[in-house]
Amino acid sequence: MVTAARHGGSAPDAARTFPDGFLWGSATASYQIEGATTEDGRTPSIWDVYARTPGRVRNGDTGDIATDHYHRWREDVALLADLGLGAYRFSLAWPRIQPTGRGPAVQKGLDFYRRLVDELLAHDITPVATLYHWDLPQELEDAGGWPERVTAERFAEYAAIAADALGDRVKTWTTLNEPWCSAFLGYGSGVHAPGRTDPVAALRAAHHLNLGHGLAVQALRDALPADTRCSVTLNFHEVRPLTGGDADTDAARRIDALANRVFTGPMLQGAYPEDLLKDTAALTDWSFVRDGDLRQINQPLDFLGINYYTPTLVSEADGSGTHNADGHGRSTHSPWPGADLVAFHQPPGDTTAMGWAVDPSGLYDLLRRVASDFPALPLVITENGAAFDDYADPSGKVNDPDRIAYVRGHLAAVHQAITDGADVRGYFLWSLLDNFEWGYGYSKRFGAVYVDYPTGTRIPKASARWYSEVARTGVLPG
Ligand code: NOJ
Repeated sequence: MVTAARHGGSAPDAARTFPDGFLWGSATASYQIEGATTEDGRTPSIWDVYARTPGRVRNGDTGDIATDHYHRWREDVALLADLGLGAYRFSLAWPRIQPTGRGPAVQKGLDFYRRLVDELLAHDITPVATLYHWDLPQELEDAGGWPERVTAERFAEYAAIAADALGDRVKTWTTLNEPWCSAFLGYGSGVHAPGRTDPVAALRAAHHLNLGHGLAVQALRDALPADTRCSVTLNFHEVRPLTGGDADTDAARRIDALANRVFTGPMLQGAYPEDLLKDTAALTDWSFVRDGDLRQINQPLDFLGINYYTPTLVSEADGSGTHNADGHGRSTHSPWPGADLVAFHQPPGDTTAMGWAVDPSGLYDLLRRVASDFPALPLVITENGAAFDDYADPSGKVNDPDRIAYVRGHLAAVHQAITDGADVRGYFLWSLLDNFEWGYGYSKRFGAVYVDYPTGTRIPKASARWYSEVARTGVLPG
C-alpha cells in the first residue's frame, strides 16, 4: 500500500456514529496469554523453545505463565462481558490440540476451547477463532517448519480437526495471523521464533503459509455449514516513500511487494506479483511454487482482517536510514529479501512505548487503498492499539490517556474511511490484556486491562472504560 507521506489524522472533533451491526471487540493470542505450557498434553511450540534460548527475549521472559488465562479464562470472559464487547478474537494453540503437529487430537486441549467458546456464547459474545497465531509445534519446525511444504499440509489437517471440534460453536474463522511476521521475522531477521536468518527460507515460508491458508480455508469449508465466515489477517504495511522522487517511490514499491502483495497476490488474485518475482530473482526462481498451488491458495474469503499500528517510511539507501529497522526488534539480518538497497526511517510524530509513530492517517489511507483494490471484500480491523508504560497508582487505578487518544484517533480514521466508501465491518482492540509481547517479553503493555504479573490481578484501565462506552453506544464522542 504505497501512498505519499502525509501527517496527522482526521480530527475527532464531532461525534461519529458507526453503522448498525458494527462489531466491537478485543483480541488476544494463545501464547501471549495462556501460560500452562506443559498442562493437559501441550508440547513445546517454536515460541517456547525460542523464548528459552538465552538472549532471544527481553529479560529472559517466557510464556510459561503469561497472564495465566488457561486458568483464569472465566474471569477474562467476565471482563469482556463487563466491558460490553460484542466479539472476542482469540487463537487456538496448535500444540495444545495436536501436540506433535500430526495425528489425532488431544481432547483436553479441545475441551479448553469448547469451554471458552461456550462461556463467550453464554454472554452473547461472538467468538472469532484464529487457527495460527505463531505457536507452531516444535516438532514441525524440527521437520523443516514453514519453509517446507509438509507444514502447509499438516496445517490443513489441524484446521479440519479444529473445525470438527468447534465448528458447531464458532462461525467466524481466521486461518493465519500476520503471516508476514511468521515468514520474514521468523526465518529472515530471526527476531521471532524460530529465529532463523535465511532470506530464501523466508520466501519459501511465505509461500507455504499462503498454501496453508488456502488448504485450511478449504478444510473449514468442507467441514462447516455455508454460513461459516472464513478470513485471514494480514499486517498490511502502509508504505510511504520519504520523497516523491523515483528512487524512493521504487523503494516503497519493493517493500509493498514484500510486505503486502506477496500475500494479497496469491490469496486474493491468484498470482504472485511480477515485480516481486523479479526483485527476488537473484535469490530464488520460486520453483517451490508447484503447479496448482495458486489455485489452492486463491480461495474466496468472507472478509479480510487488517492489523494496523503505524506507517512504514522508506527511501532508497542513502546512508541516513537503517536497513533492518521495521519496529520489530533489531537484527543484523534484514527481514526484507532482495531489498538491501532500501532504507527505513522513523516516521514523524509522537511515538508509543514500542517507538512506533502514532499516525491514524496511515490507517485511513490503508483502508481506502485496500477497499479500492478489493472492492467486493468486507474489511475488519482485527488489531489496532498501542503500548504505553502503564502503572497502577497508589489507589490501584491505571490511567492511560495516551491509549485513549491513540484509539480515538484511529477510530476516527476508520469512521472517515467508512464514510468515504470502505466497507469496514468491525474493530478489535489489541489487546484485552497486557501480555507477552514476543521479543519484548512483558516489558510492553498493550492491554485495555492491566495485568499485575506477580499476582495475576486484572485492573481495567481508564481506556477500557472509555472503549466500553464507545462499543456500547456505537458512537465515538467528539
Ligand atoms: C500484532 C500481533 O498479531 C500481536 O501478536 C502483537 O502483540 C501486536 N501486533 C503488537 O505488536
